Amino acid sequence: MDHRTTLPRRTLRALAATAAALLLSMAAAPAGAGSDSIDSDLMQSLEDHQKDLASNLGLADARAATANADELLRGLREVQAWYEARPALVEGVELSRKAVEHATRVRQQIGRGDLGGAAASATDLGRSCKACHTVFKKDS
Ligand code: HEC
Repeated sequence: MDHRTTLPRRTLRALAATAAALLLSMAAAPAGAGSDSIDSDLMQSLEDHQKDLASNLGLADARAATANADELLRGLREVQAWYEARPALVEGVELSRKAVEHATRVRQQIGRGDLGGAAASATDLGRSCKACHTVFKKDS
């Protein structure tokens, strides 16, 4: 009598485990697979402003450098929001926050007239762009 119920119950349990594993793998796929990717126009604009920022700091053009820093901050906050909406990409969340921090420092230093300091922070910012590309950009 008992052995009749043992088999179906085990089968059910195996089925349930398989279904759970399937669901788990499906849930994990979208975040890791890069099926959606970050806007490359946004990145291109970051690149333009990062380059302009360096040359405007070199020219001691604080006004133009301020505009570049503002645009970088705005764009990088978008990048940060993109990663924060995908918390499974833990490193992306951290790296984008770091980039925003560097851009914030650049902006503050320009604000107080420390263009040399701003140039150094802009170099740090460039490194944090690269750090993220090393992890997340496929063709870098
Ligand atoms: C937290 C991650 C992250 C940060 C920070 C970041 N990027 Fe990116 N960037 C990416 C990813 C991911 C791609 C690839 C996007 C894709 O799939 O096309 C990319 C692509 C690019 C591209 C290529 C765009 C194209 O035309 O395909 C450029 C240029 C770029 N980034 C510049 C920058 C600059 C400059 C900064 C810093 C001011 C920066 N990025 C900061 C993640 C980041």
